[in-house]
Amino acid sequence: MDHKIFFTLLSLLINFSINAQQTVDEKVKALLSKMTIQEKIGQMNQYNGFWNFTGPTPDGGDQKVKYNHLANGLVGSMLNVRGVEEVKAVQKIAVEESRLGIPLIFGFDLIHGYKTVFPIPLAETASWDLEAIQRSAALSAKEAAVAGINWTFAPMVDITRDARWGRVMEGAGEDPYLGSLVAAARVHGFQGKDLASPYTIAASAKHFAAYGFAESGRDYNTVDIGLNTLHNVVLPPFKAAVDAGIKTIMNSFNDLNGIPATADSYLQRDVLKGVWNFDGFIVSDWGSIRELVDHGYAKDRKQAGEMALLGGSDMDMESSIYINELEPLLREGKISLDQIDDAVKRILKVKFELGLFENPYLYCDKVSEKQITGSEEIVQATLDIAKKSIVLLKNENNILPLKKQAQKIGLIGPLASDKTSPLGNWRIAADNNTAISVLEGLQKFKGNELSHAQGVKLINKLPEGFHEEVEINTTDKTGFEEAISLAKNVDIVVMVLGEYGFQSGEGRSRTKLNLPGFQQELLEKIYEVNSNMVLVLMNGRPLILNWASENVPAILEAWHLGTQSGNAIAQVLYGEYNPSGKLPMSFPRSVGQLPLYYNHKSTGRPGADGEDAGSVFWSHYGDEKNSPLYAFGYGLSYTKFEYSTIKLSSSEMKKNSSITASVKIKNIGKVKGKEIVQLYLQDPYASTTRPIKELKGFKTIELNAGEAKTVSFKIDEDLLKFYNAHQKWIAEPGIFNVFIGTNSLVKDKKSFELLR
Ligand code: BGC
Repeated sequence: MDHKIFFTLLSLLINFSINAQQTVDEKVKALLSKMTIQEKIGQMNQYNGFWNFTGPTPDGGDQKVKYNHLANGLVGSMLNVRGVEEVKAVQKIAVEESRLGIPLIFGFDLIHGYKTVFPIPLAETASWDLEAIQRSAALSAKEAAVAGINWTFAPMVDITRDARWGRVMEGAGEDPYLGSLVAAARVHGFQGKDLASPYTIAASAKHFAAYGFAESGRDYNTVDIGLNTLHNVVLPPFKAAVDAGIKTIMNSFNDLNGIPATADSYLQRDVLKGVWNFDGFIVSDWGSIRELVDHGYAKDRKQAGEMALLGGSDMDMESSIYINELEPLLREGKISLDQIDDAVKRILKVKFELGLFENPYLYCDKVSEKQITGSEEIVQATLDIAKKSIVLLKNENNILPLKKQAQKIGLIGPLASDKTSPLGNWRIAADNNTAISVLEGLQKFKGNELSHAQGVKLINKLPEGFHEEVEINTTDKTGFEEAISLAKNVDIVVMVLGEYGFQSGEGRSRTKLNLPGFQQELLEKIYEVNSNMVLVLMNGRPLILNWASENVPAILEAWHLGTQSGNAIAQVLYGEYNPSGKLPMSFPRSVGQLPLYYNHKSTGRPGADGEDAGSVFWSHYGDEKNSPLYAFGYGLSYTKFEYSTIKLSSSEMKKNSSITASVKIKNIGKVKGKEIVQLYLQDPYASTTRPIKELKGFKTIELNAGEAKTVSFKIDEDLLKFYNAHQKWIAEPGIFNVFIGTNSLVKDKKSFELLR
C-alpha cells in the first residue's frame, strides 16, 4: 500500500475511534463550536414538506426559499416528508449540499399507525392493556421508521373532560393516572430501548400544556385553570413521559391563564426544563409562534420570536420566525447566544442519539420498507388491540353474543360497509378504503344469512387539504324504506352508526353529541319494526345515547378501530372474543353537563351522594341528573363478576411504608371472561380540596366460569401524593378511603390512616 494512503487511513481510523469514544455531549459541543450563528438558528427551524423532492427543483416563491435554506444548512427538521425515496432525496440536500452536512430529523404525526392503522388512542386506552398499547406504538414506529420517519408528534397526552372537543380521540381520556401509564407505555413503544435502532423513533408528548381544557370544548380556545388542576390533572402524564425518557415535547396553541403556552416560561423553563430536568427539546405547534401575535401577546412577528425563545421553545414549526428574526434579536441584545446554544444543543443531541450522524439514511431502507409495511405481525397486533378496545355498554337478556347458525341478520347503517371511517382521523399515510368493514367481518361467519342496507347514505367529499373522504349524508332519507323493509324480515338487526372518520379530531368540535344527521331517526324507525337489535357505535368521542340506552337491548362501543375494525367487531359480536374494555371517558346524558368527569370535587353542597337530594339548594340541574349515562371505567362482559368486600392489611400506614388492599372476585356467569379490577382512593380532607375519588391502580384478571381469584393492590405513600396548598408534591397524613370495584361508581369502601 502506498504509504500516503496508509497514513491517511490510519489518521481517519484514529479520528474515528476518538470520535466514537466521545460522549454525545462532547460531540454536540465539538459540532457547535464549528457552527455559525445562522447555522445554529437553522437547526431551530422546521418546515413542512413542500415539494415532490424527487422531481425538479422548485424555481420560485416560498418553495424556492425553503429549498435554498435546506441547501444552506438553515433547516433542522422537516415534517410530513415520508417514504424512503422522498426522505432520502431531502436528506441528501441537507447532508451533501450544506457546509456542515448536519442531517435533518424527519417528523410525522404517527398518532395511531402509519400505513396500517391502529385504533384511535382513546379506543386503545379503553383496553387498559399497557403492553398492547406499547406494542401498538412500537409497531407503528417500525412501519414508519422504515419509510424514513425518525420522530413522531405523539403521544398526545392531553387530559380532557369535554367530549365537545374533537381531539379527545387522540388522547387517553379524562384520568391523569391512566393517562400517565398510557403516556409512558407509548413512549417506551416508540423509542424502544435503543433510539439508534432503525426501528425506533423519537417521541414527542403534546400539547404542553392544558390544551385539552379549551373553554367550552372549542378547539384552540382559551384555557383558564388554577395551579391545583394544572399540577394534579394536566401535568402528570407529561411528567410520566419525561420519566420514561421522552426526547421531545410539543407545546400548545392555547392561552393558559393569560399567557400563550408557546411563550410560557413557567411551564417550559421552570417546570419542564427546570424542576423536571428535561434534557430533550421543545418544538412549537404548527405556526404557534406566529399565533402569539393573534393571541394579542406579541406586537409583531419579531417580538413573537423573542417571546417564544425566552419562553423556552427550541424549534419553530412552520412559522419561519426563528430563521428570520432571531439573528436581529440577538444583535439587539433581546435574546442571548446562550439561549440559542442551549436550544441547538438539545436538538443536536437527539439527532446524535437517533444515529443520524453515523448514518443519515439509517431510516431509509427500500427493502425493509417493502417487507415491513403491512406485515402480518403488524396486522395481527392491530386486530388484537382492536378487540381489546371494544366496550360492551349494554346487553339485555344476553342478546349477545350472536348465535352462529340459522339466523337472518340485517346489517343496517351508513357505517356498516364503510371501509374508510374506521381508519379514524390521524392517518395521513394510510389509503382510503383499506379498513375491513363490519359487513366484511360478519361475512366471514357463514352459518347465518346476512343482508345489508345503508339506510342513510355516505357521500364522498373532498375537504380542503385532505384526500378523498366520506361524510354521512344529512339531506337524503331515501335509503330509509329499503332499510325498514329489510329489518322487518330478519331475526336480528345489527345497526352500525356514529361519526365518520373526520367528524372528530383537530378542528372538529361539536355542540351536539347525538348521532349525527338522520341516524337517530333511522334507529328509531328500524326499532319500531324490529326491536331485536344490537347497536354498534363508531365514533371518536363520547356520544349522547340516552334513547338507545333506554331502548336498544345491546350496545357495543367500537370507536374507530383502524385497519382490522370489521374483523374485531365481528369476532366480538359472535363471542369469539369476550369484550373486556372499560370507558376512559364519561359518557354524558346531555351536553349541558360538560365538562363531566368522575374525579370531581365534592362542592359544599353535594346532596345525598350527589344524586336526588330532594331539595333545590344543592349542586345539581333542575332538568338532568348529575351522573353520566356511562361512567368512567364502565364496561360489561358476556359473563358477570361478583366482588367481595375490601380487606385492608392494616388500618394504619406508617410513613414510607405500605399496606395492601384486596378483594375476591368470582366469575358468576357461564363463560370465561376478563375483568379490569379498579382501585380508587380518596383523601377526604386535606390542605386543598381533593376529588371524591381517584383511580390509583388496576389489574386485569381472566376467570373461567365459576372461578374466583383474590386481587391485591399495594398502597404506598407515593400513591397518596398530590400538589398541595403549599405547592409541594406530598402525602398529607390523615384518613384515606379505599374503593375497589368494576368501575368508578363503586361505593364499597374501607379506610386507613396515614400516620405522621
Ligand atoms: C397539531 C399537532 C400536530 C401538528 C403537525 C398541529 O395542527 O396541533 O398536534 O402535531 O399540527 O401536524
